[in-house]
Formats: sequence, structure tokens, C-alpha cells
Amino acid sequence: MQPDFAPPTEDSLPFWPLWQDSDLPADADAGHWPSAGGFSGKAGQICLLPDANGGLRGALLGLGPRSKAGRERFALARATGLPKAVWRLAALPEGLDPDEAALALLLGQYRFARYKGPAYDGPRFQVPEGVDGPRLQAVARGEFLSRDLINTPASDMGPDALEKAARALANEIGAGIEVTTGPALLKQNFPLIHAVGRAAEQAPRLIDIRLGGEGPALTIVGKGVCFDTGGLNLKPGTAMALMKKDMGGAATALGLLKMLAGTGAAGGRRIRVLIPAVENSVAGNAFRPGDVLTSRKGLSVEINNTDAEGRLVLADALAFGAEESPDLMISYATLTGAARVALGPDIPPFYCDDDATARALADASMAVCDPLWRMPFWQAYEPMIEPQIADLDNAPAGGMAGSITAALFLRRFAEGAGRYVHLDIYGWQPTAAPGRPKGGVGQGGRALLAALPEVLG
Ligand code: BES
Ligand code: MN
Ligand code: ZN
Repeated sequence: MQPDFAPPTEDSLPFWPLWQDSDLPADADAGHWPSAGGFSGKAGQICLLPDANGGLRGALLGLGPRSKAGRERFALARATGLPKAVWRLAALPEGLDPDEAALALLLGQYRFARYKGPAYDGPRFQVPEGVDGPRLQAVARGEFLSRDLINTPASDMGPDALEKAARALANEIGAGIEVTTGPALLKQNFPLIHAVGRAAEQAPRLIDIRLGGEGPALTIVGKGVCFDTGGLNLKPGTAMALMKKDMGGAATALGLLKMLAGTGAAGGRRIRVLIPAVENSVAGNAFRPGDVLTSRKGLSVEINNTDAEGRLVLADALAFGAEESPDLMISYATLTGAARVALGPDIPPFYCDDDATARALADASMAVCDPLWRMPFWQAYEPMIEPQIADLDNAPAGGMAGSITAALFLRRFAEGAGRYVHLDIYGWQPTAAPGRPKGGVGQGGRALLAALPEVLG
């Protein structure tokens, strides 16, 4: 289903979103009807307004107390609870951002209905005044792609299917795509991607998508671990349960690419997406704790934990990306549990050495309700990733500052890019919120899209 606005129609019905206990809008002409029916404006509460013949002429939609507005985003997604009809936003309540409100009307229509319905069959909305409808539709379409990819379990979203999805997108937007698979990874010097993925039934691979242009270059790298068992350092069942989402970085990268193409924001820029797609599985040929592997870049890595696989596959992809010195390289990865301990599921940390870029990204992230929080590439922790017998340790003992040490590990391989940004995302909405049902969610894609004019000319 495409998350689109309804074409304008004479028959659309007005709805008024209202903060709790606020005065009724005069133009709703609702009289005592709302209070008689117990309408107070509690979040999600709906008061249908009848016309003189008992027909439906409009509705009030409760948003809850204004004092709690900061606790959530996309409050207007609740409008998808209105009866099936074409609706128009009669007035934007004070304090709500028009773009956020309009995007909420689209994001609220997301359902993951691949295996079980019902698909969305609710109300549609006209483009609210003063916003760029086609742009927001393109953003929502990208986000829906990210969610679908994450929600699809590994049984239907292994490396084969992820490649297929990448090819479909490249085809749709007129981008070039090359994929290096299995033994070819060794021949073309991607030893870490091969080592992590070689125990799985579906071969490991590196997906490389390029979208034209001649201007400044942006390379987006997404962690595509289609399932993370932990490898020989097997995860316990509770920790493994959600690991279909370990390709959330790849899903965000592909969703972002779809947004860039669909909004025209790619413009004259050169966009490249690199996705190491693997399954971290268990078999006789699995890589082992204690192994020392030499990366594409030549740095040797001691494997202290096969469950720290994300940074390994990303290392080869980042090194490859950095070889052509893009102006900006950015990685999206469901990389560490430590990032969740630090900031929780809602606000991923990002790392960037360039203050101006970091500020632009942080500001944009808040402006478009795709929040990110800067954490430091803390140099004093570099020794933590330097073991005795190799250049790097993939899993420093103790796990202190786990998200930072993972980021420092990645930075070693991103050298050569003009600037490097890394996002340690969660990619999952643990409990339903407006516009975000429980399940896969893109994180940090819309933030970069919004920051792009500032961070990439
Ligand atoms: N994919 C996981 C990280 C993860 C776990 C993200 C849970 C979101 C939720 C990653 O591959 C991993 O297992 N990381 C380990 C690293 C450790 C072994 C150094 C972790 O964070 O425990
Ligand atoms: Mn892991
Ligand atoms: Zn992982």
C-alpha cells in the first residue's frame, strides 16, 4: 500500500484536533454535543459531528493534555481512527508543526500485512495546507520500505531476499547495482564480510548501489545482518528473539535512498549505498573466538566474540567506501546493546568528529521528529580496542563504553572519507506509539535527509 494523500475532493469532511479541555473551535459549530457525549479531548478520543439529517459532517479528535505533548511525536496519526472517508485538517492546533502533522497522517497508515491482514483500509486525508504533499509522500514511502524490510523475518529476508529488495529499489529509481557474493568476496578482498557470513546457507555478499550525479559524494553504509544468532558465542534465546531486525541499518539505508530519489533531494549529488548482507550463523566452518582475521584494509582483528559481527562486516564495507574518498560517509547499524542501555530505543546515538556536521544533524533530527543524540568518539578509549596480538579487538572485555568502542573500531576503517558519521540505531519500536506500530522502524534516515542541504552543499 502506498501512503498517499487523497486527491482533493468537494466531499471531504473536516476534523479538528484538539488539546484536552481546550475550547471548542467556533467554526466546528458543535454546541453542547461533545460535552453531552463525554468528549474531553483525551488522546485518541473522537467526537463525530452529525448534520441535521443524521449524516456525518465532521469530527473532533482529542490529542490529550498539551502539557504532555513533548512525550510523543506524530500525535495526529490518531486521526486514522476516524471513520473511513476523505478528511481534511480543519485547523492545526497550536504548537503542532505542520510537516510533522501531515507526515503523521501518512505514517499512521502503516500496517505490516504480509502474513496476516487486515491491511490499512481506514480514512484518507487531503494534503493539509502549507506543506509539500509529494515530498512527504516520498518520505513516508521510504519509511514504509524500511519497516517492511525489518518486519519481514529472516525466513523471508535472508541475504538473497535483501539483495532482491535492493535490486528492486535500484531498478525503480534508475540506480546502478553490483553485488559481490560468496567466494568472490575473498577474491575481491572482503575477508571479514566472508568470514562472518560463510557459515550460513545463503552466501554472504556486498551490495553496492550508485545513483548518478556529479556533485558532492555521499556514501551510506548499512549493517545487513539478516539474522544474528551471535555465532559460536551463541546468544541466549531472549537476546536472539528480535535479531531479524539486525539488518535495520540496511533497511534504513535503503529507505533513505528511496526518500532521496523520491523527493529529488539526491539532486546532483553522487549517492552510494553499501550493504554487507550476511547471516551470523553456526556451522562447522563458522569463524571462531580467538581467530585473527586480516581485514580488507590490512588491519588484523582478534575475534574475542563472534557476536560482535556487525563491526566486522562494516569494517570491510567502510574501507571499500573510503577508498574513493566521498565527502561524507555515514553508517547505520544496529550495532550494540550498550547504545540501548545508554539512550534507550527512542533516541539513537550518533558519532561525528566534525562539529558543524554534528550540529546540523542533531538540529535537523529534532526538527523532523527523527531524534538523534551526539556521543563522542572518545580517543582515550582507543587502547580498549587494541589487543596484544593483533591491531584490533572486536569485543573489548568488560564491555565498558560498548557503543563508543564499537564506533572507534569503525572509525579506523572510515579513514579517507571527508567526514564520517556513525549511527548506532535500534530499528525497532518496542511498544506502539502514534504513527509507529510495534515493530520495525527507520531511525536517522529522515534526519540526514533534512540535514543534507547543510552538510553536503
Ligand atoms: N546486533 C547486536 C546488537 C544489538 C543487540 C542491537 C540488541 C540491538 C539490540 C550486535 O551484533 C551484538 O551482538 N553486539 C554485542 C557486542 C558485544 C559482544 C561486544 C552486544 O552489544 O552485546
Ligand atoms: Mn551480534
Ligand atoms: Zn548484530
